[in-house]
Amino acid sequence: MHLLPHSLAVSCLLSIAVHEAFAAPSPASQPHPRTIPLLRRSRPQLNESESYAWLQGQRDFLKAKYGARDANQKRASGLNLITNQNADSSFYGSIAVGTPAISYNVILDTGSSDLWLAASDGLSSQSSDGIPTFDGNASSTFTDLNTQFSISYGSGAARGTLGQDVVQFAGFEVSDQVFGVVTQISDGLLTSPVSGLMGLGFESIASSGATPFWQALADSSGTLDEPLMAFQLTRFVDIQNAQVLEPGGTFNLGAVNTSLYTGDIDYQSIPDGQEGYWIQELTGMTVNGASVTLESGTSSYAAIDTGTTLVGGPADAIAALYAQIPGSQALTGDNNGYYTYPCDTDVNVTLRFGNSSVSWPISNADFLLMQVSSSSCVGGFFTLDTSGTSAPAWIVGDTFLKNVYSVFRASPASVGFAQLSATATDMNGRLGSPPSATVGSVATITGGSTNTGSDRNSNAAALRVELRSLGVCVWAAVFLSGLVGGGLLL
Ligand SMILES: *[C@@H]1O[C@H](CO)[C@@H](O)[C@H](O)[C@H]1NC(C)=O
Ligand SMILES: *[C@@H]1O[C@H](CO)[C@@H](O)[C@H](O)[C@H]1NC(C)=O
Ligand SMILES: *[C@@H]1O[C@H](CO)[C@@H](O)[C@H](O)[C@H]1NC(C)=O
Ligand SMILES: *[C@@H]1O[C@H](CO)[C@@H](O)[C@H](O)[C@H]1NC(C)=O
Ligand SMILES: *[C@@H]1O[C@H](CO)[C@@H](O)[C@H](O)[C@H]1NC(C)=O
Repeated sequence: MHLLPHSLAVSCLLSIAVHEAFAAPSPASQPHPRTIPLLRRSRPQLNESESYAWLQGQRDFLKAKYGARDANQKRASGLNLITNQNADSSFYGSIAVGTPAISYNVILDTGSSDLWLAASDGLSSQSSDGIPTFDGNASSTFTDLNTQFSISYGSGAARGTLGQDVVQFAGFEVSDQVFGVVTQISDGLLTSPVSGLMGLGFESIASSGATPFWQALADSSGTLDEPLMAFQLTRFVDIQNAQVLEPGGTFNLGAVNTSLYTGDIDYQSIPDGQEGYWIQELTGMTVNGASVTLESGTSSYAAIDTGTTLVGGPADAIAALYAQIPGSQALTGDNNGYYTYPCDTDVNVTLRFGNSSVSWPISNADFLLMQVSSSSCVGGFFTLDTSGTSAPAWIVGDTFLKNVYSVFRASPASVGFAQLSATATDMNGRLGSPPSATVGSVATITGGSTNTGSDRNSNAAALRVELRSLGVCVWAAVFLSGLVGGGLLL
């Protein structure tokens, strides 16, 4: 079974030399609004029940102070500022975990559904080099669930145990979030300053079986203003002097940000019963005005995946796409699956989803992934063979998503796209410091991540791909039933 062209399934190695210029930011911050007054204030001795009452009073006070609403007390929305890593290779945000809360950078990934962090013990010094790690012993609210967690990749694997703790993200808190504490990890899998991954897909594809953070909030009625998440992602791939870390855009939870898009959000339903990945049927594709023939139905299902750098699709469709670009050529050997084309050709690919009448164009700047010789460039669409896995035929990543405001709505289950506003596109290529951890003030505290069934643990895998030297990643979860114990696992 070939998930991918063999040579593409290498780890996400990024240049060490470049990274050494960046000291890992201090993982410790004090973003936890509940703990600050508790630590600083002297108070009379209280017995246990008095203490709990006092703690609740403090929490309620802070909830009120930080914007909890009156009418429907808990409803809220929040945001997280994103960092663009390595010229659009990946986009990460920040979460805070434990008591006292410590912040970590995590890839924001709509293509998988598990949250996990590198652990402070067990990692080889090489694989943990410079990566802020999680130590359950340092959190008074951490519970070790004594359950194995493992997740495999085309090029390696990570494993550890499941734990449960307070997790804060984008202004919300889930007090009993289940996540993986990863103690074994393939070298090169994580790139500092990223410590793990926040899966933003649906629970049904969580290899831990745990309810994803966002879904715990969406399932808790009245918590979010609206049951949705939205992304605006910046473009730096075409900027010569872009630094390794640049401002990455905005993630909104519970409400869209109307200053980041114009016109209507064009929502298309997730096909019936497919709420695992954020699936859309790819129903139209044009290249410089010419249509590319696509199959219909499940053969054209696409995961809309913020955790994947490029756009991967079936060999036939990718070949048909490049056939519309005169002078294009399939690469072979190590780079099988990718295509080159003449750099002086402006390529305008549009995508249409579901029953939409709108075709969304991808800028030439995003299609042009990199120049490999004086006249030859590699395109951002590549062949991805997901047959035999549960992943959809297409993985539509950031090459597309940088061109739209994207909305992931739980109910009715759908994905929406809108045109970016000038405010949003003005952030493209605008060099700046990456945002500091933006955990936000916690307006809402929700429990609910209690499902720890892990029956899918052993046959779940996530797949990532890289064109060597480009730092291209695919963080889409892929279930490899039948491959357990095969060559792809640890
Ligand atoms: C704690 O103190 C309160 C008020 O003084 C008292 O009513 C309660 O019984 C005490 N609880 C315990 C467990 O000692
Ligand atoms: C936490 O404490 C346990 C028991 O002392 C120990 O076995 C484990 O290695 C510690 N974990 C870390 C991350 O230090
Ligand atoms: C919405 O986006 C604008 C422009 O980036 C920003 O100034 C504002 O803080 C954002 N608000 C929220 C709630 O995301
Ligand atoms: C890209 O193609 C679409 C459809 O053919 C067209 O509407 C759009 O204007 C084109 N964009 C550019 C930048 O040429
Ligand atoms: C398109 O609309 C039809 C009729 O409303 C519906 O049955 C079908 O599921 C829709 N297709 C997609 C991909 O949304």
